[in-house]
Amino acid sequence: MVRGLLILGSRGQLGTELTALSRATGWATTAVDIDECDITDPEAVDHWLAVSRAETVINCAAWTRVDAAETEADSAYRANATGPRVLAARCEAAEALLTHVSTDFVFDGSASAPIDEEAAPHPLSVYGASKLAGEEEVRHGCRRHQVVRTAWLYGQGGPNFVLTVLRLAGERDRLRVVADQHGTPTWTGHLAPAILRLAELGAPGTYHLTNSGSTTWHGFAEAVLAEAGVERPVDGLTTAEYPTPAHRPAYSVLDNRAWRLLGEPPLPPWQDGLRAYIAELSAAGRLSARH
Ligand SMILES: NC(=O)c1ccc[n+]([C@@H]2O[C@H](COP(=O)([O-])OP(=O)(O)OC[C@H]3O[C@@H](n4cnc5c(N)ncnc54)[C@H](OP(=O)(O)O)[C@@H]3O)[C@@H](O)[C@H]2O)c1
Repeated sequence: MVRGLLILGSRGQLGTELTALSRATGWATTAVDIDECDITDPEAVDHWLAVSRAETVINCAAWTRVDAAETEADSAYRANATGPRVLAARCEAAEALLTHVSTDFVFDGSASAPIDEEAAPHPLSVYGASKLAGEEEVRHGCRRHQVVRTAWLYGQGGPNFVLTVLRLAGERDRLRVVADQHGTPTWTGHLAPAILRLAELGAPGTYHLTNSGSTTWHGFAEAVLAEAGVERPVDGLTTAEYPTPAHRPAYSVLDNRAWRLLGEPPLPPWQDGLRAYIAELSAAGRLSARH
C-alpha cells in the first residue's frame, strides 16, 4: 500500500533524515520547507495537503535557535505555536494524522528520574514555552495527533553539538563544557525510523522518543572526541560558570514509556547513535578536527 506522507521543515536535521528514510521505505513522500510551505500560511498548507494527498503529516518545522528566542520571542512563537495551530486546523479538516515534534525543554529540570509523558511541563525558556504552546495547539486542534518529544538532537546537516565540539577541538587546546545538565543525545538516524513507525501505528497521544541512557553535555563532548579519535582535554563547568540567555533544564532525561507500551523496542543506546554519526561524518570527509 502506498502511504501518502507530507513532511514539513524537510531541510532541517530531522526533516532531511525522515525524507530520505521514508522515500527508501515505500512512503509516497512530499517534502517541503519554508520556501515552499510556511506552516503559518493556511493556504500554503492546504495546497500541499492537496498536492501530496497525504494521510499523514509530520511536522519537523520549528524555530530551534534556543538562545535567540529569548530576544526574538515573536518569531519563535510564530513558527512554534502559530504554525502548529494552522497545521492542526488544516489536518483536522483533511482528516490527516498530524505527527508533531516537540522537545525536552518543555520541562524545568527539577526531576531526578526519567520523565514520563504524564509529567507536568514547566518550561524555563521562551523556546520551551513556545514549543509547549505548539503542543497544546496540536492537541486541541486535531483529533488525530501525535506529539513526539525528543532531546539533544543531532544528525543530517546540523548545526548541532557534535559538529560544534569537533570544530572547537580544531581551534583550541582544551574545551570547557557544562557538566551539570543531564539529558539524552539522540541521533536522527535512530529517531526517524521510530517516528515513521509511530505514524504507521497511528495511535494518538504524547510520546517521548530518545536514544537510551543519559549523560551530561560534558560527557557527550568527551564521547564525541573519543569516537572521532581526537585527544583534547575537556574541563567541566557548572551552568553558573557558563551563563546563556536561555535557561536550560538541569535534568531532562525522557522516559519513553508510551512507546514501550505500544510494544516497541527501546531506541539504541546514545553511544551507538554517536558512533554511527561519526562514521557517517568520516565517510563524508567531514571530520575536520586537528589531531
Ligand atoms: N535540535 C535539537 O537539539 C532538538 C532537540 C529537541 C527537539 N527538537 C525539535 O525537533 C524538531 C526538528 O529539529 P531540527 O534540529 O531538525 O530543526 P532544524 O534543523 O532547525 O530544522 C527546522 C526547519 O524548519 C524550518 N522552518 C522554520 N520556520 C518555519 C516555518 N514557519 N514554516 C516552515 N518551515 C520552517 C527551518 O528553516 P530555516 O532554517 O530557514 O529557519 C528548518 O529548515 C523541532 O521541532 C525541534 O523543536 C530539536
